[in-house]
Amino acid sequence: RGKRAFVAGVADDQGFGWAISKALAEAGAEIILGTWVPALSIFETSMKRGKFDESRRLENGNMLEFAKVYPMDAVYDKPEDVPEEVRTNKRYAAADGGFTVQQVADRVKEDFGSIDILVHSLANGPEVQKSLLETSRSGYLAAVSASTYSFISMLQRFGPIMNRGGSALTLTYIASERAIPGYGGGMSSAKAALESDTKVLSFEAGRKWGIRVNTISAGPLRSRAARAIGFIDDMINYSTANAPLQRELDAVEVGSTAAFLASPLAAAITGTLIYVDNGLHAMGVAV
Ligand code: NAI
Repeated sequence: RGKRAFVAGVADDQGFGWAISKALAEAGAEIILGTWVPALSIFETSMKRGKFDESRRLENGNMLEFAKVYPMDAVYDKPEDVPEEVRTNKRYAAADGGFTVQQVADRVKEDFGSIDILVHSLANGPEVQKSLLETSRSGYLAAVSASTYSFISMLQRFGPIMNRGGSALTLTYIASERAIPGYGGGMSSAKAALESDTKVLSFEAGRKWGIRVNTISAGPLRSRAARAIGFIDDMINYSTANAPLQRELDAVEVGSTAAFLASPLAAAITGTLIYVDNGLHAMGVAV
């Protein structure tokens, strides 16, 4: 049978999660989504109304289909962790079956048995527009909770249902390694932690379940999340002007790297960060 992927962090057709899902589907994988609760209903409505039809078209003429879309909020591990005001919020209350990471993993196990590929393509930093110097403790911790611990939580809970040889993948950004003004709120710290965790988790999950853990450091993309940060056009222009390859990154290029990493071609690759950024990381000065 083909491989089965669980992809967290798809709520439209503009981001990396969508492109990764599509590339995995092109390669024959079945795709299951975990979509952020507040974004779920608009995503499903847009899907039904055909808003994504053009981007759903696969090379073989078929349409990208999702085997199932679960409501998920990756800042909650289990039902006891959900605060009252969230539990009773209209959108969250409508997510029957549960939206915590544990509940979603349980539902995937019940509905599908196992998975081969786990993709974490989500991040959130409520104070991303503030510099690190201005960031509050709660803003910083929220960024790390949503953007970094969420992956540990997912791997803890999906690892036991992943087949040996499987692949877990996250997305990171070079603001973890170099100062990139504008990527604030502790998001740079969250990405630095995510990159370190990639190494430690590759060891632990490799020994425990025989799966691989990698991260892609992607160049700038005009996704919904990136537009919310506010400086994405400047970052794209900077990259186009200064990277070795003077071209705009296409999300598909991150998708195909994710498909490679999930494939047997990458059977010996784990604990690694791969730049998919037109080479910008290699530059030391703007030219
Ligand atoms: P996106 O907006 O397509 O994806 C982010 C997703 O995270 C959204 O679907 C959102 O609903 C979801 N999300 C937020 N909080 C959540 C939570 N608590 N639980 C579950 N889902 C939640 O944006 P993009 O840019 O494709 O982001 C995907 C990944 O790529 C992120 O890790 C981001 O940091 C990373 N990245 C993005 C770059 C860019 O320029 N767009 C550059 C390098 C990395």
